[in-house]
Amino acid sequence: MPLVAITRILRFNAAHRVYNPALSDAENDRLFGKCNNPNWHGHNYTLEVTVEGEVDPKTGYVIDLGDLKRVAERELIVHLDHKNLNLDVPFMSGTIPTTENLVVACWRILAPKVAPARLAKLRLWETENHYVDYEGR
Ligand code: NI
Repeated sequence: MPLVAITRILRFNAAHRVYNPALSDAENDRLFGKCNNPNWHGHNYTLEVTVEGEVDPKTGYVIDLGDLKRVAERELIVHLDHKNLNLDVPFMSGTIPTTENLVVACWRILAPKVAPARLAKLRLWETENHYVDYEGR
């Protein structure tokens, strides 16, 4: 059967402060600039979830997109949307809440949940000008 990739887009907004508590205030300022604002700042994130698999001859689907949306919302979006990534999100605890670390955390949670498809890529947009890609490596 043909192997096809399919993508569902989800959106959430969240606050964070990008800093490393192990470093001095001066070093955090130097590394992270305004992202280190102690009083937080927010982003409107866009998460592109790409799964791949064989087309099921019975349905013509790789995966039911409604199922993919529901699992991504249940496992990720409800825990992230309108939350503070530093304070409110257990799976981000102890990590610097950069887009890079966030996409890896999302992968670890979502990858085991998308059977019979396979998680192929997550693309996480933090602003309209930049995104990160992760393919589980
Ligand atoms: Ni930021």
